[in-house]
Amino acid sequence: MCSNRMRPAKICIIGASGKLGQYMVGHALERGYEVVGVCRERSVGKLAAFADRITIVPGRTNDPEVIRAAVAGCDGVLTVLVPWGVQQYSSGTAQAVLDHAEPDARLVFSCGWHITRDGKDRYSWRFTTTVRIVSLLARLVRAVEIDDQVEACRRIFASDRRWTVVRGSDLEEGESQGLPVWSRHVGDPILKSNLTRRVDFALFMVEALTDDTLVREAPAIVGRLSPSALVRAGDGPSPEAGTTQ
Ligand SMILES: NC(=O)c1ccc[n+]([C@@H]2O[C@H](COP(=O)([O-])OP(=O)(O)OC[C@H]3O[C@@H](n4cnc5c(N)ncnc54)[C@H](OP(=O)(O)O)[C@@H]3O)[C@@H](O)[C@H]2O)c1
Repeated sequence: MCSNRMRPAKICIIGASGKLGQYMVGHALERGYEVVGVCRERSVGKLAAFADRITIVPGRTNDPEVIRAAVAGCDGVLTVLVPWGVQQYSSGTAQAVLDHAEPDARLVFSCGWHITRDGKDRYSWRFTTTVRIVSLLARLVRAVEIDDQVEACRRIFASDRRWTVVRGSDLEEGESQGLPVWSRHVGDPILKSNLTRRVDFALFMVEALTDDTLVREAPAIVGRLSPSALVRAGDGPSPEAGTTQ
C-alpha cells in the first residue's frame, strides 16, 4: 500500500472511457492492479471490453461525491484532465481528486505541453500560435476551455499531495515503442520531435505510480523512438531529461 511506499494494489482511473483512459486501463490490468474506472454515464458502454475485470463508477468526473466514492481505498489515482466543455470540468475534477483521494495516494494527472509549471518552458512560435488560435476558437464555439486546464494544474502544483503532472506532446496512434523519455522543460532538444504514441503516454502515466522520482514533477514527454529522443540517446542523457527506466 502507498502508506509504506510499496507498489499500489488498487487504483482509480478517472476518465477511463476516453482513448487515453482505455489504454491506461489495459496497462493497469496487465500489471495486476485492481482497477476502478470513472466515466460519464453515457460512456459506460465504451468500457464493455473491460466490464468484467474492473469496477465502473458512472458519473461526471467533476462531481465531488462521484470522485469520493471512486477513490476510496485506492493507493493510486490516474486522472485525465479534459478541457472539454465550458464548465470548469478540468479544475473541478482535479479539485475533487485533491480533496478526496487517500492521504498517501499517488496522484498522476495528464495534460499537454502548453501547461508550464515554472515558466521556464521555451515554446516555438508555431506552438504558441497554435495554442492561442485553438483557445480563441474553442472559446468562441464554447467547446473547449484550455484555460481551465491551466487552473487545474495551478491547483495541483500548489498542493502538497504526491502528484505528478504528465505533459503530453502531440499524439499518434500505433504500436507501443516503450516508455517515453522526458524533460522538465519544453524547449529541451530531446523533445523536439513533439510526437508520442498515445498507448505510450498511457504507459508513462501507469509507470509513474511506482516511480517516486516523479513525485511533484511535471515531465514533458516524447516518444522514445522519436528522432529527437534517438539523437539525444546517442549523445548521452540530458542534464535535465529523464529515461525513467
Ligand atoms: N489529443 C492530443 O493531441 C493531446 C496532446 C497532448 C496532451 N493531451 C492530453 O491527453 C489527455 C487525453 O486527451 P485525448 O485527446 O487523447 O482524449 P481522450 O483520451 O479521448 O479523452 C477525452 C476525454 O474527454 C471526455 N469528454 C469528452 N467530451 C466531454 C464533455 N463534453 N464533457 C466532459 N468530458 C468530456 C471523454 O469522456 P467520454 O468517454 O465520457 O466521452 C474522455 O474521458 C488529456 O489530458 C489531454 O490534455 C492530448
